[in-house]
Amino acid sequence: MGGLPVSIYQKRGIMKIISSEPSQVLAGRIADALKTSIIDVKFSRFPDGELYLCANGLDEDMVIVGSLVDSDSLIQLVLLIDACEGLNNQLVIPYMGYARQDKRFKAGEPVSARAISRVLSRGVDRCITVNIHNKKVLSYFDIPAFDVSLARDIGTHIKSMGFDDPLILAPDDGAAAFAQAVAAYGSWDHDHLDKTRISGDEVRMAPRTLSAADRSVVIVDDIISTGGTIATAAVMLREQGACDVFAACVHGVLTGGAFARLKASGIHEVVCSDTIERGCSRFSAADRIAEALVR
Ligand code: R5P
Repeated sequence: MGGLPVSIYQKRGIMKIISSEPSQVLAGRIADALKTSIIDVKFSRFPDGELYLCANGLDEDMVIVGSLVDSDSLIQLVLLIDACEGLNNQLVIPYMGYARQDKRFKAGEPVSARAISRVLSRGVDRCITVNIHNKKVLSYFDIPAFDVSLARDIGTHIKSMGFDDPLILAPDDGAAAFAQAVAAYGSWDHDHLDKTRISGDEVRMAPRTLSAADRSVVIVDDIISTGGTIATAAVMLREQGACDVFAACVHGVLTGGAFARLKASGIHEVVCSDTIERGCSRFSAADRIAEALVR
């Protein structure tokens, strides 16, 4: 941390990329987008299981990239920041795990998003996240923090799939603005699903105003976690006459067999970005992150 103003990065124009293990592929793409190099880091463990790393060739202006996909990835990020101590460091958290515990829901709980933000603020000048679950979390960092959106990249991907007039649907009103932003890239119709409780254990999900009948539907969301929300929606949309249902998200957390659950529900294709590297990662966050880094 050099305490230098952010504009210094633009003046120098040279930033080297360093990454935790889970974000290596995306970090390589960011390096390509910025026409810079990525630092070689050796990752291993001490005999007792503690994480170890050693970076080779640190430079003055560093971009530290790491998604928080589990506890080890958090420790790797903390260690990378420490290895870069004394340099001008920008932090990129492509997928910020723990962001969904963004308030104390009941007494005795931590505000996990705040705890993590504070820990990761130390030693860096600013932070960039990608479609963070709640932008309020950005204020938990002790440094300037910004969020970038992949709405354009999902929109571009949907275009490449060659649909004839798809309906872009958010699974709930919380994701409605995101669905609208995605739809804007193709001037497509957009809506969000409303949930109506029919009885104690029966719920109906349908688009709030538009009909899904005889249309290709793309459900878009920031995160697919267990896939439960979208799988339920897909079954109902098919019952309402949708031709094909697709799912696209930024962060493919895909926990507990989510991908299979989604396919079993009749979803034609599930795609996500590379904020978490998955077999179904079809578009990259690299360009949006690179733009934010030089902005
Ligand atoms: C919720 O607010 C998020 O935007 C996602 O809709 C949610 O995390 C998805 O969870 P799941 O895939 O477990 O239904």
